[in-house]
Amino acid sequence: MAVKTATGAPAELPRGSAPAKKGFRAWLNKRLPVDEFVSTQLTGYYAPKNFNIWYFFGSLAMVVLVLQLVTGIFLTMFYKPGEATSFDSVEFIMREVNYGWLIRYLHSTGASAFFIVVYLHMFRAFLYGSYRAPRELLWLVGMAVYLALMAEAFMGYVLPWGNMSFWGAQVIVNLFGTIPGIGPGLVEWIRGDYGIADATLNRFFSLHVVALPLALLLLVLLHLVALRQTGSNNPDGIEIKARLGADGKPLDGIPFHPYYTVKDVVGIGVFFVLFAIVVFFVPTLGGLFLEAPNFDPANPLSTPAEISPVWYFTPYYAILRAVPNQRFGALLMLLAVVSFLFVPWLDRSPVKSMRYRGWISRTALALFVIAFIVLGFLGKRPPEGLYVVLARIFTVVYFAFFWLMPFYTRIDRVKPVPERVVYHAH
Ligand code: HEM
Repeated sequence: MAVKTATGAPAELPRGSAPAKKGFRAWLNKRLPVDEFVSTQLTGYYAPKNFNIWYFFGSLAMVVLVLQLVTGIFLTMFYKPGEATSFDSVEFIMREVNYGWLIRYLHSTGASAFFIVVYLHMFRAFLYGSYRAPRELLWLVGMAVYLALMAEAFMGYVLPWGNMSFWGAQVIVNLFGTIPGIGPGLVEWIRGDYGIADATLNRFFSLHVVALPLALLLLVLLHLVALRQTGSNNPDGIEIKARLGADGKPLDGIPFHPYYTVKDVVGIGVFFVLFAIVVFFVPTLGGLFLEAPNFDPANPLSTPAEISPVWYFTPYYAILRAVPNQRFGALLMLLAVVSFLFVPWLDRSPVKSMRYRGWISRTALALFVIAFIVLGFLGKRPPEGLYVVLARIFTVVYFAFFWLMPFYTRIDRVKPVPERVVYHAH
Protein backbone atom coordinates (compact mmCIF):
# COMPACT_ATOMS: atom_id res chain seq x y z
CA MET A 1 0.00 0.00 0.00
CA ALA A 2 1.37 3.48 -0.91
CA VAL A 3 2.28 5.70 2.06
CA LYS A 4 0.58 9.17 2.03
CA THR A 5 1.81 12.48 3.53
CA ALA A 6 -0.40 14.82 5.62
CA THR A 7 -1.50 16.50 2.36
CA GLY A 8 -2.48 13.16 0.92
CA ALA A 9 0.37 13.04 -1.63
CA PRO A 10 2.29 9.79 -1.86
CA ALA A 11 5.61 10.01 -0.05
CA GLU A 12 8.86 8.18 -0.62
CA LEU A 13 9.59 5.73 2.15
CA PRO A 14 12.91 6.33 3.86
CA ARG A 15 15.58 4.09 2.32
CA GLY A 16 15.76 0.70 3.97
CA SER A 17 12.29 0.81 5.49
CA ALA A 18 9.50 -1.28 4.06
CA PRO A 19 5.74 -1.05 4.64
CA ALA A 20 4.75 -2.90 7.79
CA LYS A 21 4.01 -6.52 7.03
CA LYS A 22 1.34 -8.60 8.61
CA GLY A 23 0.67 -12.23 9.32
CA PHE A 24 3.08 -15.02 8.54
CA ARG A 25 5.30 -12.84 6.37
CA ALA A 26 5.86 -10.39 9.23
CA TRP A 27 6.45 -13.25 11.63
CA LEU A 28 8.99 -14.83 9.27
CA ASN A 29 10.83 -11.61 8.44
CA LYS A 30 11.26 -10.78 12.09
CA ARG A 31 13.15 -14.04 12.42
CA LEU A 32 14.76 -14.43 8.99
CA PRO A 33 15.60 -11.49 6.68
CA VAL A 34 13.88 -13.00 3.62
CA ASP A 35 12.50 -9.75 2.19
CA GLU A 36 15.73 -7.92 2.92
CA PHE A 37 17.65 -10.62 1.06
CA VAL A 38 15.34 -10.37 -1.97
CA SER A 39 15.51 -6.58 -2.04
CA THR A 40 19.27 -6.33 -1.64
CA GLN A 41 20.40 -9.38 -3.63
CA LEU A 42 17.74 -9.83 -6.30
CA THR A 43 15.32 -6.99 -7.06
CA GLY A 44 17.75 -4.37 -5.78
CA TYR A 45 20.84 -5.92 -7.30
CA TYR A 46 21.62 -4.25 -10.61
CA ALA A 47 23.34 -6.22 -13.35
CA PRO A 48 24.52 -4.82 -16.70
CA LYS A 49 21.66 -4.64 -19.19
CA ASN A 50 23.69 -6.08 -22.07
CA PHE A 51 24.28 -9.67 -20.93
CA ASN A 52 24.24 -12.15 -23.81
CA ILE A 53 24.09 -15.97 -23.99
CA TRP A 54 27.60 -16.29 -22.56
CA TYR A 55 26.14 -15.16 -19.26
CA PHE A 56 23.92 -18.22 -18.95
CA PHE A 57 26.69 -20.55 -17.92
CA GLY A 58 27.23 -19.35 -14.34
CA SER A 59 23.67 -20.11 -13.33
CA LEU A 60 23.75 -23.32 -15.40
CA ALA A 61 26.85 -24.42 -13.46
CA MET A 62 24.87 -23.94 -10.25
CA VAL A 63 21.98 -25.99 -11.63
CA VAL A 64 24.34 -28.81 -12.64
CA LEU A 65 26.00 -28.69 -9.22
CA VAL A 66 22.62 -29.21 -7.54
CA LEU A 67 21.77 -31.98 -10.01
CA GLN A 68 25.03 -33.77 -9.18
CA LEU A 69 24.43 -33.43 -5.45
CA VAL A 70 20.88 -34.77 -5.63
CA THR A 71 21.61 -37.68 -7.99
CA GLY A 72 24.79 -38.41 -5.99
CA ILE A 73 22.78 -38.73 -2.78
CA PHE A 74 20.51 -41.32 -4.41
CA LEU A 75 23.42 -43.23 -5.91
CA THR A 76 25.10 -43.37 -2.50
CA MET A 77 22.01 -45.10 -1.09
CA PHE A 78 22.78 -48.15 -3.24
CA TYR A 79 26.47 -47.95 -4.04
CA LYS A 80 28.80 -50.10 -1.92
CA PRO A 81 32.47 -49.09 -1.97
CA GLY A 82 34.95 -51.96 -1.94
CA GLU A 83 36.97 -54.04 -4.37
CA ALA A 84 34.46 -56.87 -4.10
CA THR A 85 31.28 -54.80 -4.17
CA SER A 86 31.71 -51.57 -6.18
CA PHE A 87 31.25 -52.88 -9.71
CA ASP A 88 28.39 -55.17 -8.78
CA SER A 89 26.56 -52.47 -6.83
CA VAL A 90 26.67 -50.18 -9.88
CA GLU A 91 25.29 -53.02 -12.03
CA PHE A 92 22.60 -53.52 -9.39
CA ILE A 93 21.71 -49.83 -9.63
CA MET A 94 21.50 -50.13 -13.43
CA ARG A 95 19.36 -53.26 -13.54
CA GLU A 96 17.44 -53.68 -10.29
CA VAL A 97 16.93 -50.34 -8.57
CA ASN A 98 13.80 -48.51 -9.72
CA TYR A 99 14.97 -45.80 -12.12
CA GLY A 100 18.53 -46.57 -11.03
CA TRP A 101 19.68 -46.39 -14.65
CA LEU A 102 18.21 -42.89 -14.88
CA ILE A 103 19.88 -41.69 -11.71
CA ARG A 104 23.21 -43.08 -12.82
CA TYR A 105 23.02 -41.65 -16.33
CA LEU A 106 21.92 -38.28 -14.97
CA HIS A 107 25.01 -38.31 -12.75
CA SER A 108 27.48 -39.53 -15.39
CA THR A 109 26.11 -37.17 -18.05
CA GLY A 110 26.00 -34.42 -15.41
CA ALA A 111 29.76 -34.80 -14.88
CA SER A 112 30.48 -34.10 -18.55
CA ALA A 113 27.83 -31.37 -18.68
CA PHE A 114 29.51 -29.71 -15.71
CA PHE A 115 32.79 -29.44 -17.59
CA ILE A 116 31.13 -28.27 -20.83
CA VAL A 117 29.34 -25.54 -18.88
CA VAL A 118 32.42 -24.56 -16.88
CA TYR A 119 34.67 -24.45 -19.97
CA LEU A 120 32.17 -22.17 -21.75
CA HIS A 121 31.92 -20.08 -18.58
CA MET A 122 35.71 -19.69 -18.51
CA PHE A 123 35.85 -18.93 -22.24
CA ARG A 124 33.41 -16.07 -21.66
CA ALA A 125 35.93 -14.60 -19.20
CA PHE A 126 38.56 -14.67 -21.98
CA LEU A 127 36.14 -13.06 -24.42
CA TYR A 128 35.31 -10.11 -22.21
CA GLY A 129 38.35 -9.84 -19.93
CA SER A 130 36.24 -10.74 -16.89
CA TYR A 131 39.33 -11.87 -14.95
CA ARG A 132 40.84 -8.38 -15.09
CA ALA A 133 40.89 -5.95 -12.15
CA PRO A 134 38.81 -5.68 -10.02
CA ARG A 135 37.78 -9.32 -10.56
CA GLU A 136 41.12 -11.10 -10.10
CA LEU A 137 40.04 -12.78 -6.87
CA LEU A 138 36.75 -13.86 -8.42
CA TRP A 139 38.81 -15.55 -11.14
CA LEU A 140 41.18 -17.16 -8.63
CA VAL A 141 38.26 -18.53 -6.59
CA GLY A 142 36.80 -19.78 -9.88
CA MET A 143 40.08 -21.59 -10.52
CA ALA A 144 39.90 -23.15 -7.06
CA VAL A 145 36.41 -24.36 -8.00
CA TYR A 146 37.82 -25.79 -11.23
CA LEU A 147 40.62 -27.65 -9.40
CA ALA A 148 38.16 -29.05 -6.84
CA LEU A 149 35.91 -30.10 -9.72
CA MET A 150 38.77 -31.93 -11.41
CA ALA A 151 39.58 -33.82 -8.20
CA GLU A 152 35.88 -34.59 -7.70
CA ALA A 153 35.49 -35.94 -11.25
CA PHE A 154 38.66 -38.01 -11.11
CA MET A 155 37.68 -39.71 -7.85
CA GLY A 156 34.12 -40.25 -8.99
CA TYR A 157 35.41 -41.99 -12.08
CA VAL A 158 37.31 -44.53 -9.96
CA LEU A 159 34.23 -45.52 -7.92
CA PRO A 160 32.45 -47.87 -10.38
CA TRP A 161 35.66 -49.92 -10.29
CA GLY A 162 35.58 -50.62 -14.01
CA ASN A 163 38.78 -51.48 -15.79
CA MET A 164 39.39 -47.89 -16.90
CA SER A 165 38.67 -46.68 -13.33
CA PHE A 166 41.45 -48.92 -12.12
CA TRP A 167 44.02 -48.16 -14.80
CA GLY A 168 43.19 -44.46 -14.93
CA ALA A 169 43.77 -44.22 -11.20
CA GLN A 170 47.00 -46.15 -11.65
CA VAL A 171 48.35 -43.66 -14.21
CA ILE A 172 47.21 -40.49 -12.42
CA VAL A 173 48.26 -41.49 -8.91
CA ASN A 174 51.66 -42.62 -10.24
CA LEU A 175 52.23 -39.10 -11.59
CA PHE A 176 52.81 -38.01 -8.00
CA GLY A 177 55.75 -40.43 -8.01
CA THR A 178 57.61 -38.09 -10.39
CA ILE A 179 58.05 -35.53 -7.58
CA PRO A 180 61.74 -35.75 -6.64
CA GLY A 181 62.47 -37.23 -3.22
CA ILE A 182 59.03 -37.56 -1.70
CA GLY A 183 57.34 -38.98 -4.82
CA PRO A 184 57.32 -42.74 -4.13
CA GLY A 185 56.33 -42.29 -0.48
CA LEU A 186 53.59 -39.87 -1.46
CA VAL A 187 52.11 -42.31 -3.97
CA GLU A 188 51.92 -44.99 -1.30
CA TRP A 189 50.32 -42.55 1.12
CA ILE A 190 47.66 -41.53 -1.43
CA ARG A 191 46.84 -45.14 -2.28
CA GLY A 192 46.95 -46.37 1.32
CA ASP A 193 48.40 -49.59 -0.09
CA TYR A 194 51.13 -50.86 -2.39
CA GLY A 195 48.79 -50.72 -5.35
CA ILE A 196 45.42 -49.17 -6.26
CA ALA A 197 43.32 -51.22 -3.88
CA ASP A 198 40.41 -51.41 -1.47
CA ALA A 199 41.86 -48.69 0.78
CA THR A 200 42.26 -46.36 -2.22
CA LEU A 201 38.70 -46.95 -3.34
CA ASN A 202 37.29 -46.29 0.12
CA ARG A 203 39.14 -43.03 0.64
CA PHE A 204 38.21 -41.84 -2.84
CA PHE A 205 34.58 -42.60 -1.97
CA SER A 206 34.81 -40.57 1.22
CA LEU A 207 36.46 -37.64 -0.55
CA HIS A 208 34.08 -37.79 -3.51
CA VAL A 209 30.92 -37.95 -1.41
CA VAL A 210 31.74 -35.75 1.57
CA ALA A 211 34.90 -33.64 1.46
CA LEU A 212 34.97 -32.38 -2.12
CA PRO A 213 31.25 -31.57 -2.48
CA LEU A 214 31.54 -29.55 0.73
CA ALA A 215 34.62 -27.76 -0.60
CA LEU A 216 32.84 -27.13 -3.90
CA LEU A 217 29.79 -25.65 -2.19
CA LEU A 218 31.88 -23.37 -0.01
CA LEU A 219 34.04 -22.25 -2.91
CA VAL A 220 31.00 -21.53 -5.11
CA LEU A 221 29.54 -19.47 -2.26
CA LEU A 222 32.80 -17.53 -2.00
CA HIS A 223 32.76 -17.10 -5.79
CA LEU A 224 29.29 -15.54 -5.59
CA VAL A 225 30.23 -13.27 -2.69
CA ALA A 226 33.25 -12.05 -4.64
CA LEU A 227 31.02 -11.51 -7.69
CA ARG A 228 28.54 -9.52 -5.61
CA GLN A 229 31.34 -7.29 -4.35
CA THR A 230 32.65 -6.24 -7.78
CA GLY A 231 29.45 -6.73 -9.76
CA SER A 232 29.40 -8.53 -13.10
CA ASN A 233 31.50 -7.54 -16.05
CA ASN A 234 29.67 -7.47 -19.43
CA PRO A 235 30.29 -7.96 -23.17
CA ASP A 236 31.54 -4.37 -23.50
CA GLY A 237 33.91 -4.66 -20.55
CA ILE A 238 32.60 -1.37 -19.14
CA GLU A 239 32.23 -0.89 -15.38
CA ILE A 240 28.56 0.02 -14.95
CA LYS A 241 29.18 1.19 -11.38
CA ALA A 242 31.13 4.12 -12.79
CA ARG A 243 27.92 5.79 -14.04
CA LEU A 244 25.15 6.08 -11.48
CA GLY A 245 21.76 7.70 -11.88
CA ALA A 246 20.12 10.11 -9.41
CA ASP A 247 18.76 7.11 -7.50
CA GLY A 248 22.28 5.79 -6.99
CA LYS A 249 21.68 2.83 -9.31
CA PRO A 250 23.90 2.14 -12.33
CA LEU A 251 22.47 3.81 -15.44
CA ASP A 252 23.36 0.77 -17.53
CA GLY A 253 22.01 -1.76 -15.05
CA ILE A 254 18.69 -3.54 -14.65
CA PRO A 255 17.39 -5.41 -11.59
CA PHE A 256 18.66 -8.97 -11.55
CA HIS A 257 15.16 -10.11 -10.63
CA PRO A 258 12.92 -10.37 -12.60
CA TYR A 259 14.94 -9.60 -15.75
CA TYR A 260 17.75 -12.13 -15.47
CA THR A 261 15.97 -14.75 -13.39
CA VAL A 262 13.45 -15.03 -16.24
CA LYS A 263 16.21 -15.13 -18.85
CA ASP A 264 18.17 -17.77 -16.91
CA VAL A 265 15.08 -20.00 -16.73
CA VAL A 266 14.99 -20.02 -20.53
CA GLY A 267 18.66 -21.04 -20.64
CA ILE A 268 18.03 -23.78 -18.10
CA GLY A 269 15.10 -25.05 -20.21
CA VAL A 270 17.22 -25.28 -23.37
CA PHE A 271 20.01 -26.93 -21.40
CA PHE A 272 17.69 -29.63 -20.05
CA VAL A 273 16.34 -30.42 -23.52
CA LEU A 274 19.88 -31.10 -24.80
CA PHE A 275 20.80 -32.88 -21.57
CA ALA A 276 17.74 -35.15 -21.79
CA ILE A 277 18.58 -36.10 -25.39
CA VAL A 278 21.97 -37.41 -24.21
CA VAL A 279 20.63 -39.10 -21.07
CA PHE A 280 17.82 -40.93 -22.86
CA PHE A 281 19.30 -41.65 -26.28
CA VAL A 282 23.13 -41.62 -26.13
CA PRO A 283 24.24 -41.83 -22.47
CA THR A 284 27.74 -43.05 -23.33
CA LEU A 285 28.04 -40.60 -26.25
CA GLY A 286 30.03 -43.13 -28.23
CA GLY A 287 32.47 -43.77 -25.39
CA LEU A 288 33.10 -40.09 -24.76
CA PHE A 289 31.01 -39.70 -21.58
CA LEU A 290 31.32 -43.33 -20.43
CA GLU A 291 34.23 -45.33 -21.84
CA ALA A 292 33.82 -48.89 -23.11
CA PRO A 293 36.48 -50.52 -20.83
CA ASN A 294 34.54 -49.26 -17.83
CA PHE A 295 31.76 -51.73 -18.54
CA ASP A 296 34.28 -54.47 -17.61
CA PRO A 297 35.23 -54.95 -13.96
CA ALA A 298 38.66 -53.74 -12.77
CA ASN A 299 41.34 -56.25 -13.65
CA PRO A 300 44.94 -55.65 -12.56
CA LEU A 301 46.06 -58.37 -15.01
CA SER A 302 44.49 -56.83 -18.10
CA THR A 303 45.51 -53.35 -19.20
CA PRO A 304 43.03 -51.64 -21.59
CA ALA A 305 44.46 -51.25 -25.11
CA GLU A 306 44.59 -47.49 -24.66
CA ILE A 307 44.45 -45.82 -21.25
CA SER A 308 42.92 -42.37 -21.51
CA PRO A 309 40.91 -40.18 -19.16
CA VAL A 310 37.44 -38.80 -19.90
CA TRP A 311 37.38 -36.05 -22.57
CA TYR A 312 37.56 -33.12 -20.14
CA PHE A 313 41.05 -34.13 -19.02
CA THR A 314 42.44 -35.19 -22.41
CA PRO A 315 43.97 -31.80 -23.38
CA TYR A 316 46.19 -32.01 -20.30
CA TYR A 317 46.82 -35.70 -20.87
CA ALA A 318 48.03 -34.97 -24.42
CA ILE A 319 50.46 -32.39 -23.00
CA LEU A 320 51.72 -34.97 -20.48
CA ARG A 321 52.41 -37.48 -23.23
CA ALA A 322 53.86 -34.99 -25.71
CA VAL A 323 57.12 -35.18 -23.77
CA PRO A 324 59.19 -38.39 -23.60
CA ASN A 325 60.53 -37.62 -20.12
CA GLN A 326 57.74 -38.50 -17.67
CA ARG A 327 58.91 -36.09 -14.97
CA PHE A 328 59.06 -33.18 -17.39
CA GLY A 329 55.71 -34.20 -18.90
CA ALA A 330 54.05 -34.19 -15.47
CA LEU A 331 55.55 -30.78 -14.72
CA LEU A 332 54.31 -29.41 -18.04
CA MET A 333 50.83 -30.78 -17.38
CA LEU A 334 50.79 -29.08 -13.99
CA LEU A 335 51.94 -25.84 -15.59
CA ALA A 336 49.18 -26.14 -18.21
CA VAL A 337 46.58 -25.92 -15.44
CA VAL A 338 48.45 -23.43 -13.26
CA SER A 339 48.95 -21.00 -16.19
CA PHE A 340 45.29 -19.98 -15.91
CA LEU A 341 45.98 -18.52 -12.46
CA PHE A 342 48.28 -15.85 -13.87
CA VAL A 343 46.03 -14.57 -16.64
CA PRO A 344 44.76 -11.48 -14.74
CA TRP A 345 48.34 -10.24 -14.59
CA LEU A 346 49.59 -11.51 -17.95
CA ASP A 347 46.91 -9.63 -19.88
CA ARG A 348 48.19 -6.07 -20.41
CA SER A 349 45.65 -4.84 -22.94
CA PRO A 350 44.27 -1.35 -22.25
CA VAL A 351 40.75 -2.71 -22.91
CA LYS A 352 38.93 -5.69 -21.43
CA SER A 353 36.53 -6.96 -24.06
CA MET A 354 37.48 -8.68 -27.32
CA ARG A 355 34.95 -6.37 -28.96
CA TYR A 356 37.49 -3.57 -28.73
CA ARG A 357 40.69 -5.56 -29.12
CA GLY A 358 42.63 -5.96 -32.34
CA TRP A 359 43.35 -8.95 -34.54
CA ILE A 360 46.37 -10.17 -32.56
CA SER A 361 44.44 -10.85 -29.33
CA ARG A 362 41.55 -12.33 -31.30
CA THR A 363 43.83 -14.65 -33.27
CA ALA A 364 45.66 -15.66 -30.08
CA LEU A 365 42.39 -16.63 -28.38
CA ALA A 366 41.16 -18.50 -31.47
CA LEU A 367 44.45 -20.44 -31.70
CA PHE A 368 44.25 -21.29 -28.02
CA VAL A 369 40.75 -22.70 -28.42
CA ILE A 370 41.87 -24.73 -31.46
CA ALA A 371 44.91 -25.99 -29.49
CA PHE A 372 42.73 -27.01 -26.53
CA ILE A 373 40.32 -28.93 -28.78
CA VAL A 374 43.04 -30.60 -30.88
CA LEU A 375 44.96 -31.59 -27.73
CA GLY A 376 41.71 -32.97 -26.35
CA PHE A 377 41.38 -35.10 -29.47
CA LEU A 378 45.03 -36.21 -29.34
CA GLY A 379 44.68 -37.25 -25.70
CA LYS A 380 42.38 -40.01 -26.95
CA ARG A 381 44.83 -41.24 -29.59
CA PRO A 382 47.93 -43.40 -29.04
CA PRO A 383 51.07 -41.30 -28.45
CA GLU A 384 52.84 -42.26 -31.66
CA GLY A 385 53.83 -40.94 -35.08
CA LEU A 386 52.00 -37.87 -36.34
CA TYR A 387 49.92 -37.67 -33.15
CA VAL A 388 53.00 -36.90 -31.08
CA VAL A 389 54.24 -34.30 -33.55
CA LEU A 390 50.84 -32.58 -33.50
CA ALA A 391 50.67 -32.79 -29.70
CA ARG A 392 54.03 -31.03 -29.47
CA ILE A 393 53.04 -28.29 -31.91
CA PHE A 394 49.78 -27.59 -30.12
CA THR A 395 51.43 -27.74 -26.70
CA VAL A 396 53.65 -24.89 -27.86
CA VAL A 397 50.58 -22.97 -29.13
CA TYR A 398 48.84 -23.61 -25.79
CA PHE A 399 51.66 -22.16 -23.71
CA ALA A 400 52.38 -19.33 -26.15
CA PHE A 401 48.84 -18.06 -25.59
CA PHE A 402 49.53 -17.59 -21.89
CA TRP A 403 53.15 -16.66 -21.67
CA LEU A 404 53.38 -14.35 -24.69
CA MET A 405 50.25 -12.54 -23.50
CA PRO A 406 52.12 -9.64 -21.85
CA PHE A 407 53.71 -8.88 -25.24
CA TYR A 408 50.96 -9.37 -27.77
CA THR A 409 48.27 -7.67 -25.68
CA ARG A 410 50.48 -4.59 -25.44
CA ILE A 411 51.26 -4.25 -29.14
CA ASP A 412 47.73 -5.14 -30.27
CA ARG A 413 45.80 -2.20 -31.73
CA VAL A 414 42.62 -1.53 -29.77
CA LYS A 415 39.42 0.36 -30.64
CA PRO A 416 38.03 3.15 -28.45
CA VAL A 417 35.65 1.85 -25.78
CA PRO A 418 32.27 3.64 -25.68
CA GLU A 419 31.24 5.58 -22.57
CA ARG A 420 28.07 3.57 -22.02
CA VAL A 421 27.28 -0.08 -22.71
CA VAL A 422 26.02 -0.93 -26.16
CA TYR A 423 22.67 -2.65 -26.06
CA HIS A 424 20.38 -3.68 -28.88
CA ALA A 425 16.97 -5.06 -27.90
CA HIS A 426 16.29 -8.26 -29.79
C1 HEM B 1 30.73 -24.78 -10.08
C2 HEM B 1 31.32 -23.93 -10.84
C3 HEM B 1 30.94 -22.49 -11.00
C4 HEM B 1 29.78 -21.85 -10.67
C5 HEM B 1 28.52 -22.46 -10.05
C6 HEM B 1 29.93 -20.46 -11.04
C7 HEM B 1 28.95 -19.50 -10.88
C8 HEM B 1 29.02 -18.21 -11.39
C9 HEM B 1 27.91 -17.31 -11.51
C10 HEM B 1 26.46 -17.62 -11.10
C11 HEM B 1 28.36 -16.17 -12.07
C12 HEM B 1 27.52 -14.95 -12.45
C13 HEM B 1 26.77 -15.24 -13.74
C14 HEM B 1 27.69 -15.30 -14.93
O1 HEM B 1 28.50 -14.37 -15.08
O2 HEM B 1 27.62 -16.28 -15.69
C15 HEM B 1 29.80 -16.31 -12.27
C16 HEM B 1 30.64 -15.35 -12.80
C17 HEM B 1 31.99 -15.54 -13.03
N1 HEM B 1 32.71 -16.71 -12.88
FE1 HEM B 1 31.96 -18.47 -12.20
N2 HEM B 1 31.19 -20.26 -11.55
C18 HEM B 1 31.84 -21.47 -11.55
C19 HEM B 1 33.12 -21.72 -12.00
C20 HEM B 1 34.00 -20.75 -12.46
C21 HEM B 1 35.33 -21.02 -12.94
C22 HEM B 1 35.97 -22.40 -13.01
C23 HEM B 1 35.87 -19.80 -13.29
C24 HEM B 1 37.23 -19.49 -13.83
C25 HEM B 1 38.31 -20.01 -13.49
C26 HEM B 1 34.87 -18.78 -13.05
C27 HEM B 1 35.02 -17.43 -13.28
C28 HEM B 1 34.01 -16.49 -13.25
C29 HEM B 1 34.16 -15.09 -13.63
C30 HEM B 1 35.45 -14.39 -14.08
C31 HEM B 1 32.90 -14.49 -13.49
C32 HEM B 1 32.51 -13.03 -13.78
C33 HEM B 1 32.12 -12.97 -15.22
C34 HEM B 1 31.65 -11.62 -15.68
O3 HEM B 1 31.12 -10.86 -14.86
O4 HEM B 1 31.83 -11.34 -16.89
N3 HEM B 1 33.75 -19.40 -12.56
N4 HEM B 1 30.16 -17.58 -11.86
